[in-house]
Amino acid sequence: MVSLKGRSFLTLKDYTKEEITYLLDLAAYFKKLKKEHILHDRLKGRNVALIFEKNSTRTRASFEVAAADLGMGSTYLDPKSSQIGKKESIEDTAKVLGRMFDGIEYRGFGQEIVENLAEHAGVPVWNGLTNEYHPTQVLADMLTIREYMGDLKGRTLVYLGDAKYNMGNSLMIGCSKLGLNFRAIAPSRYFPEEELVHQCREWAAESGAEIVLTEDINEGLKGADAVYTDVWVSMGEPDDVWEERIEDLTPYRVTMDVMKRANENAIFMHCLPSFHDLDTEIGREINLKFGLTCMEVTDEVFKAYNKPVFDQAENRMHTIKAVMAATLSDDWNI
Ligand code: CP
Ligand code: NVA
Repeated sequence: MVSLKGRSFLTLKDYTKEEITYLLDLAAYFKKLKKEHILHDRLKGRNVALIFEKNSTRTRASFEVAAADLGMGSTYLDPKSSQIGKKESIEDTAKVLGRMFDGIEYRGFGQEIVENLAEHAGVPVWNGLTNEYHPTQVLADMLTIREYMGDLKGRTLVYLGDAKYNMGNSLMIGCSKLGLNFRAIAPSRYFPEEELVHQCREWAAESGAEIVLTEDINEGLKGADAVYTDVWVSMGEPDDVWEERIEDLTPYRVTMDVMKRANENAIFMHCLPSFHDLDTEIGREINLKFGLTCMEVTDEVFKAYNKPVFDQAENRMHTIKAVMAATLSDDWNI
């Protein structure tokens, strides 16, 4: 039996294929209970702290709804009104919150911050996104692929865009652990770091997957079951990188032509938020400055293929619930 009680969830690197699969199964179980309106508030009386040093819609909402469904209270700490980092160190914050809460979510900058929190909190800490990793997103993505394809092993996920940041890194880890082929298509300076690629290739060798990093769109898309992209400039990056990113990554935008080169039943995936039209402030600013009407994906593709994308968003809640439930209790009979 898999037991994750007391563990933090900082990156999928720390989790085995069996443990990740257990979390996906638990998420599917909770999803079914939720759809059938069956209460599963077995963690009544517990409380979780949610620290957000960067903005969020999905992750914050997922943690709050999942905590409520499990019967737990949640406290949201935003970057401006808490003492974190400015007047109080991460270590002291961890010690304080660990005395009051049963678990702590952290979204922010360097991975070392969430690791520092976990080292000193004495309760499970969950990574809600750092510059380097976004592990709860990848759990939701894997659940979504499994729902669409029936299985994960042997499937091929192709990621176009900035593959060296949190989403590229975490997808490569998740795929290599679970046996999906991972391909990053981007200019080579956007490939994940060599050391991580090397580590993932070892996991891939065990799971039977292949990792390919290529600049060649046609080659990379052959046999793709899922075509994934993310924003070109991530939260916390300086505004002056936009120009270079637009120049480098426009050839790697997901267009109808890109989708045609993938498998016939391929799904389009995006962690969201996405710049596919001019209905956002940043989208309009970029339009005025550079003339683009969309960025990483065309509006045509987004509109035609968005069902799995919103399934991914919903699955954030079910998978985050599984992470909290499994690391706080062993009492789930699935
Ligand atoms: N995908 C994701 O993490 O979304 P939010 O930034 O809205 O939480
Ligand atoms: N790479 C993006 C992911 C958002 C969910 C960012 O860090 O902003």
